Amino acid sequence: MRHLIDFGDLTRQEWEQLYARVSQIIDDPQAVIDVCRGKVSANLFYEPSTRTNFSFQTAMLRLGGQVFGFADPKSSSVSKGETLKDTIRMVSGYADVVVMRTPWEGAAKAASLYSCVPVVNAGDGGHMHPTQTMADLTTITRLRGKVDDLCIGLCGDLKYGRTVHSLIKALAKFDNIKFFLISPRELAVPDYIRSFMREHNMWFSEVTGLEAVIPQLDVLYMTRIQQERFVDPLEYQRNKGVYVLTRRKLENAKPDMLVLHPLPRVDEISLDVDDDPRAAYFQQARFGMFARMALLEHLAHQPRNDHPDAVEIGTKPVCCNPHCITQTQQYLPPLVKKIGGVDCCAFCDAPLR
Ligand code: NCD
Repeated sequence: MRHLIDFGDLTRQEWEQLYARVSQIIDDPQAVIDVCRGKVSANLFYEPSTRTNFSFQTAMLRLGGQVFGFADPKSSSVSKGETLKDTIRMVSGYADVVVMRTPWEGAAKAASLYSCVPVVNAGDGGHMHPTQTMADLTTITRLRGKVDDLCIGLCGDLKYGRTVHSLIKALAKFDNIKFFLISPRELAVPDYIRSFMREHNMWFSEVTGLEAVIPQLDVLYMTRIQQERFVDPLEYQRNKGVYVLTRRKLENAKPDMLVLHPLPRVDEISLDVDDDPRAAYFQQARFGMFARMALLEHLAHQPRNDHPDAVEIGTKPVCCNPHCITQTQQYLPPLVKKIGGVDCCAFCDAPLR
């Protein structure tokens, strides 16, 4: 693995090797305090973040490495009109690994074309968030022993929730998983995710009610309605507060069901759930830091490539997704990939029309 852009790019074996390291680190974090001594991570956060940014920072610091970067793009040259390509070429000359979060879908993939060092996607718009998935899989494996043969409910904003998209892609690598996709109709998973699930013969049922399915679940993955991604504010108003997990609703759930949430929570899990032994979301955030430690250790030791392959200059933007990175960075090549037999943008996965 040279970059982590989309969890779908990792084989199950690669994940299991990485997980073995995550597990060692959780059991003995003192043993790794020097493994990234002399390594430097560039953390480029073009979008607000508390836990992901802190988690990546503390992960590198706990490995003995150093971190620089920004948490507000206004303080970078992007505000002077610099292209992503130039920012990445320059920053990757200073760092051993680049961690980036952006509001543009496909931006980490775009950055990886021009970077001299590995790029980690720490969230690209409403698209993907593979290191959150590492936190999720670590939590499920540590607390349930395995990921196969589970019934998983994904609940909330499945349209804009990038953590859900990444988790679904990852779970395609496991066996015998049943999904209940619980969302208002307006916030159902995007078409490319549905095509992906069909293509991989994943069992799923799309429902609008949480209470009817909760007794069947082994894992309930709650998500926030992603207010910042709505184009139409009325659509947000119609859907906010639609699901609230309470202690009373948990009475009908299995005694060992895990309640996960990538955080931050708004109102979708009431505070009285926090003391229930099934609530695992704060532990999940801590496991996320250990998972990022294993990832950074692996990537920061990859050989540099000071002459990334030449990339053809794009002649026209091919993607109609208004949030796709190809909309603003028009030099990008018009890369295409197939999902479920349909031609899709290789940056943001949206179907090409
Ligand atoms: C998530 C994100 O940024 O997508 N948060 C996180 O990384 N822990 C979920 C969210 O913002 O709702």
